[in-house]
Amino acid sequence: MAANTYLTGIKPTGDFHLGNYVGAIKPALAAAEQYDTYYFIADYHALNTVKDAGELRHSIRSGAATWIACGLDPRRTVVYQQSRVPETFELTTILSTLTPKGLMNRAHAYKAARDRNVEAGITDLDAGINMGLFNYPILMAADILVMESTHVPVGRDQTQHLEYTVDIAGYFNHRFGEGYTFPLPKGVIDEGEASILPGVDGRKMSKSYDNHIPLFLPENKLKKAIRRIPTDSTPVEDPKDPESSVPFQLLRHFADADQVAEVRVRLEKGGMGWGELKNELFEAVNAEIAPKRERYEELMAEPERIDAILLEGSECARERARATVDRVRAAIGVA
Ligand code: TRP
Repeated sequence: MAANTYLTGIKPTGDFHLGNYVGAIKPALAAAEQYDTYYFIADYHALNTVKDAGELRHSIRSGAATWIACGLDPRRTVVYQQSRVPETFELTTILSTLTPKGLMNRAHAYKAARDRNVEAGITDLDAGINMGLFNYPILMAADILVMESTHVPVGRDQTQHLEYTVDIAGYFNHRFGEGYTFPLPKGVIDEGEASILPGVDGRKMSKSYDNHIPLFLPENKLKKAIRRIPTDSTPVEDPKDPESSVPFQLLRHFADADQVAEVRVRLEKGGMGWGELKNELFEAVNAEIAPKRERYEELMAEPERIDAILLEGSECARERARATVDRVRAAIGVA
């Protein structure tokens, strides 16, 4: 068992935005410096919502290309596709025989889907909810446990999933611990200020708030999106509060410390208008993103290269998953 295995799943639905870049991609790239890292495209997770072959195929490639373009190095991190590691689904079956249904009834994503039916006045609270969504916490536990992960980055929305994973591993270890025990994964909570990017309305950037700026917008569209960030009508000469200014808060994530300090002083003193601030913000974001956007476009123009990376990574991930599942099979008495 490797000492520290850091694993995360990437949901390949829709394009990534600047908030994903700051909140998930950058911290995961930094983690690759100190852990054994396993990053996978959660395509069977996406299948719960995406039921179009062309769209799913595109988003798998686009998800992988995005991460690679941002600096994920497949020689250092095992980059793979969930569906290409079928041992995950074998483990899902085994774990589901140990998991109380009541635990799944209490899962946030499932409860939220039922609440939406309540709000819509639909009497069958399970209407439109598929078993994939219901079973999803077990699949996610299998994703994590099959690689014997020790560390999993969790945002606020994923903490319950990780608690469930620890519970489910515990059921197994309690029953079959004589034969095999899963290491219990720890959540790496990255909710520090450094990883939360505000959206254009000041709330956390999120597709569900529709306040996001896509990561690889063409330059002119990026400029427009930044110009459209709402600001008040304080005149150029007046002092402004950087803390309550969305463009300034965004700038802090993209400009270097000297530039941020200088802009802060100019805003507080007065004399810097929102337009000028937004220009600086555009330049800073674009300087960081432009080379990545270019790499992304190169990769997307050669999908067979992306596929080859995913295939190779999946083979490597599979070897490890097979070893885990073989031990599990022996421990439960089927082999
Ligand atoms: N549930 C995660 C999301 O919605 C994706 C995911 C799937 C994942 N399996 C995982 C994350 C395992 C961490 C570990 O984004």
